[in-house]
Amino acid sequence: MFAVHLMAFYCSKLKEDQIKKVDRFLYHMRLSDETLLDIMARFQAEMQKGLGKDTNPTASVKMLPTFVRAIPDGSENGEFLSLDLGGSKFRVLKVQVSEEGKRNVQMESQFYPTPNEIIRGNGSELFDYVADCLADFMKTKGLKHKKLPLGLTFSFPCRQMKLEEGILLSWTKKFKARGIQGTDVVSCLTKAIRKHKDIDVDILALVNDTVGTMMTCAYDDPYCEVGVIIGTGTNACYMEDMSNIDLVEGDEGRMCINTEWGAFGDDGALEDIRTEFDRELDLGSLNPGKQLFEKMISGLYLGELVRIILLKMAKAGLLFGGEKSSALHTKGKIETRHVAAMEKYKEGLANTREILTDLGLEPSEADCIAVQHVCTIVSFRSANLCAAALAAILTRLRENKKLARLRTTVGMDGTLYKIHPQYPKRLHKVVRRLVPNCDVRFLLSESGSTKGAAMVTAVASRVQAQRKQIDKVLALFRLTREQLMDVQSKMRTEFEYGLKKDTHLMATVKMLPTYVCGTPDGTEKGKFLALDLGGTNFRVLLVKIRSGRRSVQMYNKIFTIPLEIMQGTGEELFDHIVQCIADFLDYMGLKGAQLPLGFTFSFPCRQTSIDKGTLIEWTKGFKATDCEGEDMVDMLREAIKRRNEFDLDIVALVNDTVGTMMTCGHEDPNCEIGLIAGTGSNMCYMEEMKNIELVEGDEGKMCINTEWGAFGDNGCIDDIWTQYDKKVDEGSLNPGKQRYEKMTSGMYLGEIVQQILIDLTKQSLLFRGQMSERLQTRGIFETKFLSQIESDRLALLQVRRILQQLGLDSTCEDSIVVKEVCGAVSRRAAQLYGAGLAAVVEKRRQDQGLEYLKITVGVDGTLYKLHPHFSRILQETVKELAPQCDVTLMLSEDGSGKGAALITAVAKRLQQAQKED
Ligand code: BG6
Ligand code: BG6
Ligand code: GLC
Ligand code: GLC
Repeated sequence: MFAVHLMAFYCSKLKEDQIKKVDRFLYHMRLSDETLLDIMARFQAEMQKGLGKDTNPTASVKMLPTFVRAIPDGSENGEFLSLDLGGSKFRVLKVQVSEEGKRNVQMESQFYPTPNEIIRGNGSELFDYVADCLADFMKTKGLKHKKLPLGLTFSFPCRQMKLEEGILLSWTKKFKARGIQGTDVVSCLTKAIRKHKDIDVDILALVNDTVGTMMTCAYDDPYCEVGVIIGTGTNACYMEDMSNIDLVEGDEGRMCINTEWGAFGDDGALEDIRTEFDRELDLGSLNPGKQLFEKMISGLYLGELVRIILLKMAKAGLLFGGEKSSALHTKGKIETRHVAAMEKYKEGLANTREILTDLGLEPSEADCIAVQHVCTIVSFRSANLCAAALAAILTRLRENKKLARLRTTVGMDGTLYKIHPQYPKRLHKVVRRLVPNCDVRFLLSESGSTKGAAMVTAVASRVQAQRKQIDKVLALFRLTREQLMDVQSKMRTEFEYGLKKDTHLMATVKMLPTYVCGTPDGTEKGKFLALDLGGTNFRVLLVKIRSGRRSVQMYNKIFTIPLEIMQGTGEELFDHIVQCIADFLDYMGLKGAQLPLGFTFSFPCRQTSIDKGTLIEWTKGFKATDCEGEDMVDMLREAIKRRNEFDLDIVALVNDTVGTMMTCGHEDPNCEIGLIAGTGSNMCYMEEMKNIELVEGDEGKMCINTEWGAFGDNGCIDDIWTQYDKKVDEGSLNPGKQRYEKMTSGMYLGEIVQQILIDLTKQSLLFRGQMSERLQTRGIFETKFLSQIESDRLALLQVRRILQQLGLDSTCEDSIVVKEVCGAVSRRAAQLYGAGLAAVVEKRRQDQGLEYLKITVGVDGTLYKLHPHFSRILQETVKELAPQCDVTLMLSEDGSGKGAALITAVAKRLQQAQKED
């Protein structure tokens, strides 16, 4: 009994002594949590450095954009070829990703050897060899006559500018083929493949093994957004927010970043962690000074690290009684698989003895215990270092998502991770300790990285095909300079037609005389009522003008006009208007006052004097009966009479463009054009009387309400009139009419977008081809959503939220497409406005015989005011098409009511002067 105890005591004492001895010797390799947290912080800083545009060139952790933007969504399908080069084994595969929805992947693969003379020989020979293996594989699998897309898993650092290209930055691990560094490996391989006339493959994607691993795992677990390799080499990738990736344009969504963390420390950042053993190992490697973090961690180096340590300990007399064998002196004699075997739970000690004996050593029991502990320390340090870097990535993900807790999955692969008995457990434990606020699932990639690479390829080939289709649609909205110049010149022709007596009746652009003969001169004064009907809001206003510029006081009330009134009878409409006026007068305590009134009426009216105007036809959302062909002033007067409560002196009928021009003209006398980009689209400008054949007299100027919204109604711009415009037109209140307006104004842009979205969905290019009832509901896509969606400050997530509010369930990619569609539609609108405006300013310049014209345009309308890019594009287009004109766009802050009051003031003065005469 005593002997047994003694024996046990002896054993545990022996173990303890050996462990203490090794611990002392490798003191520097044991990393405390404090140190790990410090390394984690350093790695976080390195990531930031690698992501920054200015700091990337000198960063050792390269943070390479991969152009992989989304994890698989299960809709991938097709048949693909795959190559997997750079890990411990080289494979060629055929991957069949199943029919939609079933998530079924079938793979057939074949390993090929990678002899040293090939991977360290001439670069072109390496790629010839790879192409030969591919050709051989296709032959044996009977694939020779199929054209298949190929995904290349290439596990080395590559700088990518697109998915199907990668410049090799440097070889790592065991590879060192000459003449490839700095070149695009996809073209190298393509060139080699072309030599085989009997096979036809298209390399669609280059992916790092970490990316392949992440994608493989994400196919089964959509939470997977990190991929880690702990194999021959070590590395990790993760999904980063585009807004943080300086090196790639765009802020939308996420992109996978290949960190290439193996190079962490190459700039000296880990010198305090590295030991003399690490330095010795590095000196004997293929790439001294490089991949210093990798050399402390990965499978290619762990065994060697153990060998160097054992040799040192033997030399110091701490092992094998100071004896060394020649095998122990030989580089590479201890491999990572040996380390793993020595650390096995039960057989470990026996394995150690066997391995050491095979190395020509005669280990004692104590030696075996010590050696086993060396292995533990070395592999533990490896796991610890990996954990620190991974913890940094997880923290970054959590912070990017602004979450207090992150739930995520890490896809894992690599022989060290897979065959080492303790490694995964240790790694997981440390990670969880370092980032307690992350719930991490580690998912082993059972099928390597090729399944993931096939997913990337599948997405790439689908995206390629879809992109072509989407581009085809968007191209319809992209106007060339020539097309815009053509619009400009046709608009100009229409202006002339409209102004001339003989052509006027046939002209689509009506060029209506307004009987407004001058812009404000500052002498206007008095108290006026104004109505503002036809834009988004109906307003009644009281305007007090004191003489002297800028001094105007306004009081107004907004009223809604219900749809049934807009589209009811004329009598109902005008009764409603008078009702609103009565409310306003009541509200202002003005019931008895007989004020002069200016009526902004934003529809085409043929005027014979300032206070007479026959409605030619309704536009936009109005369709009240018995109005067209009638005098609007008379209708208003009659309605006032019908009510028999108050009397008003209706002095002027004013289009909103004219009101806007006058409002702005009150501040800037150079303002001789009024532009509306709102519910409708229209423009007015000051024309020489001598050019206006419809009105007697040749002296001075008169404002012309162009009613350019009708431009194109004669088919003159049918070449840019798309199927979507046609659809919108067909569904409108006035089919065939106001075509230019329907391509440019707020009432229609949203509908155009909606028509495109419907078509793209039908073509399965959006919303996974699922047509919702919402999407087909007319009018859900208001133009204000365009303005919101196109705001640069808006993250993609917010775009998704807007779409969600509309009842459209979109993915990130959908949101990107929707935003592009909005952009294309609004851009075309702004450019068309630009072409129209260029036509008028050029006309004015030429009519006045000027080399250079300086002119101000008063602008109003919700589209102009709310859209983030509209005014810029409009301005750019005018500049380009009318380079000899200096056009200032001036936003009308006060609406057209003020302008209408100014016109009324002048008209009233004239009226009185006539009376006095
Ligand atoms: C394999 C992947 O499973 O693991 C490869 O398919 C990857 O793409 C490799 O390179 C990494 O591990 P190792 O140990 O082979 O380098
Ligand atoms: C307002 C003017 O500011 O803008 C109206 O006062 C004009 O007269 C309107 O019709 C145009 O914009 P929208 O977007 O309301 O049609
Ligand atoms: C090396 C390569 C890297 C790869 C890793 C794992 O670190 O540089 O690209 O991902 O090994 O194979
Ligand atoms: C419509 C009207 C026009 C108005 C414009 C802007 O085009 O026909 O008169 O100016 O909308 O509101």
